[in-house]
Amino acid sequence: MKALILSGGMGTRLRPFTYSMPKQLVPVANKPILAHCLENVRAIGVEDVAVVVGDRGQEIRTVVGDGSAFGLNITYLQQDAPLGLAHAVSIAEEFLGEDDFVMYLGDNVLAEGIAESARAFRADRPSAQLLLTKVADPRAFGVAEVDAEGQVLALVEKPQQPRSDLAVIGVYFFTAAVHDAVRAIEPSARGELEITDAVQHLVERGERVVATEYAGYWKDTGSPDDLLDCNRLLLGRLGHGVHGEVDTGSTVEGPVLIEAGAVVERSRLVGPLVVGAGSVVRDSDLGPYTALGRDCVLDGAGIGNSIVLEGVSIQNVRGLSGSIIGRSAAVRGGAATGRRLIIGDHTRAEVAA
Ligand code: DAU
Repeated sequence: MKALILSGGMGTRLRPFTYSMPKQLVPVANKPILAHCLENVRAIGVEDVAVVVGDRGQEIRTVVGDGSAFGLNITYLQQDAPLGLAHAVSIAEEFLGEDDFVMYLGDNVLAEGIAESARAFRADRPSAQLLLTKVADPRAFGVAEVDAEGQVLALVEKPQQPRSDLAVIGVYFFTAAVHDAVRAIEPSARGELEITDAVQHLVERGERVVATEYAGYWKDTGSPDDLLDCNRLLLGRLGHGVHGEVDTGSTVEGPVLIEAGAVVERSRLVGPLVVGAGSVVRDSDLGPYTALGRDCVLDGAGIGNSIVLEGVSIQNVRGLSGSIIGRSAAVRGGAATGRRLIIGDHTRAEVAA
């Protein structure tokens, strides 16, 4: 089996971060979302992976490289414009050949991995196998109707009037039968070749399309709140380990991961949290549910339930929560009067009155 991972697209809902990095590289629990995907793919024994990239491809190549760090052999496929998930399959057709494959959307997090579904697919080899989950508002997703045996009866992309509450998760298993279906469909009203339509085409052709409900935690990391939610969950699973220095003037409660070269002085740390390699935390309150990237400096800071990317400095600001702070940003408190913001396009600041 091969894997096709989709890492193109625009990421508009994650601005301003996606002005400077592709959304699949935004970190949760100090690891790019894409790295979580690659680990899940490797865990089902797949080695040959194509990563579809758009105009941010170079940054993805720089971070992921040839895949050897993940035990994978990665080929990059350039998609000139985000013309749809099925379009991404069409540009991968030569790479995929006649092989079965798993298609994995590079912004989806499946915390319990995909081993169970991979086992079921390999045993049964339906033309397509989907993963579904019940959601409160299915209108933002592909929506499936399924019979009692798990056969998919119909699929619709982002319907206004959903006929079930079963959303399609961004991990699909296919045999080579999908390529004919991709060739047969037309662009949707939003101008994309939808994978949902290709799978619906398989259903209409009488091919076997099955679905199972995913029992674990799933998130399509479309918005800042999704990222924070995911971060909380994955931090809870990191465990405890002190590989940097924590002085005797500091207190540590709960699972806390301090990466190599990090220094903590006179601070209170409440896990789950991670302090990235080379970061310095001084006279600060950190956590819970906070991921501090590498090479940050916190001095007189108080921050919980947040994602702080690499190179950030926070000085003399307390009470930060539910925040995502982009690379090398500087947050300063203690000015005698007034509030000063130097923030980029589409930035969101919530300041107490
Ligand atoms: O997350 C699950 C949902 O993903 C499904 O329920 C929907 O049926 C499916 O269409 C998809 O919907 P989204 O609107 O969330 O897809 P999005 O445009 O966010 O793209 C998903 C990933 O694929 C993202 O990492 C960007 C990448 N992508 C997207 C397009 C349109 C590409 O690489 N190329 C593309 O042309």
